[in-house]
Amino acid sequence: MSHNKSITFIYVAAIVISVYGESPASNIEETANMTSKIHKVLVSSNDFPASAVNILKDFFTVEQTNFLNFGEEGLSKNYEELMNLIPGSSALVWVSHHPITTELLDKAGPQLKIVATASAGYNHCNLKELKSRGIQLTNTPNVLSPAVAEIAITLMLGAARRFTENLAQVRSGEWEIGFDKVLGQDIRGSTVGIIGLGGIGQATVKRLAGFEVAKFLYTGHREKPEGKALNAEFVPLDTLLSQSDFIVLAVPLNDETKHMINKTTIAKMKKNAIVINIGRGELIDQEALYDALKNKDIYAAGLDVTTPEPLPKDHKLLTLLNVFVLPHIGSATVRTRTEMGELAANNVVNALTGKPLITPVTL
Ligand code: DGY
Repeated sequence: MSHNKSITFIYVAAIVISVYGESPASNIEETANMTSKIHKVLVSSNDFPASAVNILKDFFTVEQTNFLNFGEEGLSKNYEELMNLIPGSSALVWVSHHPITTELLDKAGPQLKIVATASAGYNHCNLKELKSRGIQLTNTPNVLSPAVAEIAITLMLGAARRFTENLAQVRSGEWEIGFDKVLGQDIRGSTVGIIGLGGIGQATVKRLAGFEVAKFLYTGHREKPEGKALNAEFVPLDTLLSQSDFIVLAVPLNDETKHMINKTTIAKMKKNAIVINIGRGELIDQEALYDALKNKDIYAAGLDVTTPEPLPKDHKLLTLLNVFVLPHIGSATVRTRTEMGELAANNVVNALTGKPLITPVTL
């Protein structure tokens, strides 16, 4: 019996024993079948990790679309299939950043109990709508923090050491060779300001431990004990903006944080400031960022997230050499995506078997 199967067996045995007292094996198998017959779970994309699908299959009837839930396919072909598959589902596992529409929730029916988004961010989920329908929401924080923090540091290095410009030189074969050519900035001795010292912000500070950073600042709603432990100083946003050499955006996107980096806040930054965004593109007013980078009001930006995504290849931001852009790959490692998928699946198992959610989103 596989590890997953044994866990399922033990779990189902526990249910049976709690309901019937000690029961013969045939009753246990029956209960497993009953559980799987009761609930249908819809997985919104064809690329959800197999191990996570198997966790769901151990308990429920699982439907999965034949398409990706990303990009154009996610918005057209996949959406059509989701609309056909969703009626009668008790859970929806959401595997992209496309909005979950009210039309889809209507189509699901009143038995839909949980939406489990396989992402830390949940700005694509309409919280008010879910709450008014009594649908629970879970996300997948923490398991992705190390991978996203690695990308934050990659962006810091990439922007500070002028990777866009340098990689273009490698491709063209025209290297600017010289002792004072393409010089960048050090992380060593710098002040790193983290906007949002949550799991990802903390993981980033931890991973920068060997870089000889002079000072860590952070801002947010309140001072955190983790800040003290990491030797990071809690400061108001304006102080962080005016003192930091690196400004790392690690906050969720919501009404309060949308366009928090704008003309006014950029004007408070140092001339050598480097803005790093690993949250969501809309944290930044991209027009204002473009102007600041073009006019060299700040030094550079490193972006894993943009508006829109994908960023069109002829977007004016990409004409600048002092911006280093990655295609939203913060959590894109085999291990992390597997752990995100399995966490989403286990949240669904708990929701539909009357156990507390592992990572609930407060609605
Ligand atoms: C998230 O989980 O929100 C990240 O953006 C990766 O998808």
